[in-house]
Amino acid sequence: MIRTQLILANDDYEVLVGSDLLDQSGTLIGEAGHFGKQAALVTDSNVGPLYADAVQKSLEDAGIKVFQITVPAGEASKSMDQVTDICRQMLQAGLDRKSFLVALGGGVIGDLAGFAAAIFQRGIPCVQIPTTVVSQVDSSVGGKTGVNTPEGKNLVGAFHQPKLVIADVETLKTLPDQEYNEGYAEVIKHAAIRDAELLGLVEAQGLSRDNLAPLIARNVGIKARVVEEDERETTGTRVLLNFGHTIGHGIEAAGGYGKYFHGEAISLGLVAACRLSVKHSGLSEAESERIIATLEQFQLPTKLDAEVPTATILEKMTRDKKFKDGQIRFVLLRGLGEAFVSDAITLADCEAAIEELR
Ligand code: NAD
Ligand code: GLY
Repeated sequence: MIRTQLILANDDYEVLVGSDLLDQSGTLIGEAGHFGKQAALVTDSNVGPLYADAVQKSLEDAGIKVFQITVPAGEASKSMDQVTDICRQMLQAGLDRKSFLVALGGGVIGDLAGFAAAIFQRGIPCVQIPTTVVSQVDSSVGGKTGVNTPEGKNLVGAFHQPKLVIADVETLKTLPDQEYNEGYAEVIKHAAIRDAELLGLVEAQGLSRDNLAPLIARNVGIKARVVEEDERETTGTRVLLNFGHTIGHGIEAAGGYGKYFHGEAISLGLVAACRLSVKHSGLSEAESERIIATLEQFQLPTKLDAEVPTATILEKMTRDKKFKDGQIRFVLLRGLGEAFVSDAITLADCEAAIEELR
């Protein structure tokens, strides 16, 4: 098991990455601290049947009374209605402010249940047990929780750092190929912004799902250090995690959230951001092509479909919260592993980069 510690202003916690950790979750939670004798175990309709019983048994063996809540799998569950429902189920089950919550699932469950934990009885401890690549390398670490509204994604939420993160890499073996590969958009992003050597590890790992703990833990380390440097996204470091996301989110929204899955849209955004970095900030053509080839290794798209119009992508981009006072704060690379925030990229530059994706 590989341990990564986060030391933040008001919270210290560990992220544990390894194999067969679900069966030990009760003991691992007990070692991390005393969070209460009752817990809500929140999961989704895909993950629950696979893993909830193992976690529940381990918690019960550790003397914790568990109340399971299962929500329908999928992004549509990241809603205020679902948060209300979870909180009401917890109240009706007799959970109180001395209870804690365990979020078992991908980023949807982590964000949704994490937010419920942030507001239930004005905040109770949360343990994250992520089961997707995205959630193990990114969303379970750093405390961003929240839900979507009809106005947009992740617009209502709270910072609520977990007390512990348990990432069991064996759970990734049941992840459908589509979700598995999409997660690598974030892994490749981590390599691009902070860790040139990681790209070599990713290339060598390829599509094999064996012995994933070192790779996942290395990503956790990158995310952890960024969050430690800029917990509330105020100094600029955490913004670096948006590499590829400005144009990527525009493409995802322009496709009506159906044409491209999130990781696919981010892949296209990464390609555009690499090409802009070659033109504007010194990334070599060879480094850019290497990042793009690695995206292709994970069957992620690197060419944009003609039916998603550039004008719509630009319009969606300018509505995004990453546009500060109408100014684009665009993350570029000076070289592989060296990201920075630039104010020099114009909408015309973005338009040209989107056209180049065709
Ligand atoms: P997800 O949670 O929807 O999971 C993807 C699918 O895989 C779901 O159908 C789920 O039921 C299924 N699944 C999960 N684990 C499985 C397993 N081990 N075996 C089989 N099936 C499994 O999606 P995701 O990609 O994990 O997360 C996306 C969400 O994360 C988005 O809502 C996004 O906004 C959020 N996110 C948040 C942050 C953050 O910092 N908080 C960062 C990145 C993404
Ligand atoms: N996933 C981006 C962040 O945590 O800031």
